[in-house]
Amino acid sequence: MPLLIAVKGKSGFSARNTAEDVTKGIDGHGLTAIITEPTSGIGLETARVLALRGVHVVMAARNVEAAAKCKETIIKSCPSATIDVMKLELRSLKSVTNFANEYISMGLPLNILICNAGVTAPPVSLSKDGSESRFATNYLGHFHLTNLLLDTMKNTAKNWRREGRIVLVSSEVHRLTYKGGIIGIYNSFYAYGQSKLANTLHAKELTRRLKEEGADITINALHPGITETSLSRHSNFMSSNHNFFHLGFSKTVIFFSCS
Ligand SMILES: NC(=O)c1ccc[n+]([C@@H]2O[C@H](COP(=O)([O-])OP(=O)(O)OC[C@H]3O[C@@H](n4cnc5c(N)ncnc54)[C@H](OP(=O)(O)O)[C@@H]3O)[C@@H](O)[C@H]2O)c1
Repeated sequence: MPLLIAVKGKSGFSARNTAEDVTKGIDGHGLTAIITEPTSGIGLETARVLALRGVHVVMAARNVEAAAKCKETIIKSCPSATIDVMKLELRSLKSVTNFANEYISMGLPLNILICNAGVTAPPVSLSKDGSESRFATNYLGHFHLTNLLLDTMKNTAKNWRREGRIVLVSSEVHRLTYKGGIIGIYNSFYAYGQSKLANTLHAKELTRRLKEEGADITINALHPGITETSLSRHSNFMSSNHNFFHLGFSKTVIFFSCS
């Protein structure tokens, strides 16, 4: 029988709570959110619940056909949902630039940016720009995307007098990295931790800079809990430890303190 951690945090929520519980009573109408790779796992559920609460969701996906199917499924259960699908391949800085330019040219506001996409242990390969593909997907692509959309977010927060939010989905595994921190060598065990450490440091430094500027944007780096998703498809450890991943950590979100 799965053990479910039910200790409530400061928020009053525990691992037993779902995204629907946490957002109950929140009206997201008028807000626009971009979420990277919402075609499976945590991203898909986040997109669904944001749309359910009235947020205009922009699904930034490398597989636009899969994203269109996800959009259809969400709309079936929530006919009033407003969802757009746009192409984004995080392993290519050019694709990220194209995405951001297209988004900016649409003249939409941007209240929420959720950098969710991630890979654990894909076969060793290089991105289109020559970087290790996991570092490129989990960190470099998101770093570039955030930079390109930052002015849009600042303007939205200022014009609407409403706090903007950037969420960088990191992991507790950010602690499992090379002794020297972020370095240019490759070890399959530490490479994921390194990319997630980079997400966390990105959040800390961006928080510092935005505070200095007085921009009304909060950055969170978070560990989403441990849950079995398609993330485990490339990882022997995760895919061979199903019981471990059914221990009930699935709904916990732990925020690192960055603000
Ligand atoms: N699940 C956990 O226990 C856990 C724990 C700690 C942190 N996280 C983090 O939570 C986030 C969501 O993971 P998840 O568990 O929901 O995994 P998931 O179901 O595998 O979702 C990850 C998504 O990232 C996408 N992606 C991979 N490479 C991409 C690229 N180059 N460009 C654009 N999208 C790309 C995948 O798209 P495709 O389907 O097209 O490959 C997939 O939809 C990740 O950042 C992960 O590191 C998860």
